[in-house]
Amino acid sequence: MVDRSFGDLSLAALYDILNPWGPGDDFYLGFVMGADAVLDVGCGTGQLLRRAHGEGHRGRLVGLDPAAAMLVQARQRAGAVEWVLGDLRTRYWYGEFDLVVMTGHVFQVLLRDEELRAALRAVRGALRVGGRFVFETRNPAARPWEAWTPERVREVAAPDGHALRMWHEVQRPVLGDRVTFTETYDGDTWQRPRVSRSTLRFLTPEALDAHLREAGLTVVDRYGDWRRTPLTATSPEIITVAEAAP
Ligand SMILES: C[S@@+](CC[C@H](N)C(=O)[O-])C[C@H]1O[C@@H](n2cnc3c(N)ncnc32)[C@H](O)[C@@H]1O
Repeated sequence: MVDRSFGDLSLAALYDILNPWGPGDDFYLGFVMGADAVLDVGCGTGQLLRRAHGEGHRGRLVGLDPAAAMLVQARQRAGAVEWVLGDLRTRYWYGEFDLVVMTGHVFQVLLRDEELRAALRAVRGALRVGGRFVFETRNPAARPWEAWTPERVREVAAPDGHALRMWHEVQRPVLGDRVTFTETYDGDTWQRPRVSRSTLRFLTPEALDAHLREAGLTVVDRYGDWRRTPLTATSPEIITVAEAAP
């Protein structure tokens, strides 16, 4: 089951307002525009593929997501893209794509080793030899969850003009490589706040590389931020470009 943030129609309708286009999207757009056939796993509201289509990409664009509410947003805005409901366990593709992306830290929803292995096998299977898998995961060494506190409230204007607030709270203690937290949404005109609960996994670069290797994916580039700075212990992101081995 998907988290309430993505499964609830009214919260999915607010996703793009709370997550506007940013430097990470520019980074991915460059890869998408340079590839003929692209699979976006966990495409959400489809911002990336919608923009690619709008900027003249005329190859195959496929967005996959298990949250129907997110795909409602995607479909309303770009009918020309192929939007598929499901995930890498329910839909398979064989050697059809030049590029597979997982953006917006979707990779971190893969919590169990078996789930991760199966997803990476499916990514490798979907790619042509030499095709690329590009994704990012937050760097556990930078302990980003320490900043996910209820005092840090994000406030944006909802489509009706009223204020909408969102904040995080991490479940303590944080044990192992998983972080469980809530996202609370509250609007000026809402009767009560809406709370979504999530768990994300934070893998080290070494653990990531071992999983990628096992799936037949070779790391060709690694960055620590969207400016393509090399990864260090304090980098916010682990951004990986991997290639499908023969
Ligand atoms: C934070 S959003 C990111 C959406 C989009 N990639 C972006 O960057 O805006 C995470 C998305 O991952 C989807 N998701 C959850 N579990 C998933 C899974 N097992 N496989 C693929 N996508 C999943 C959610 O439904 C949600 O749309």
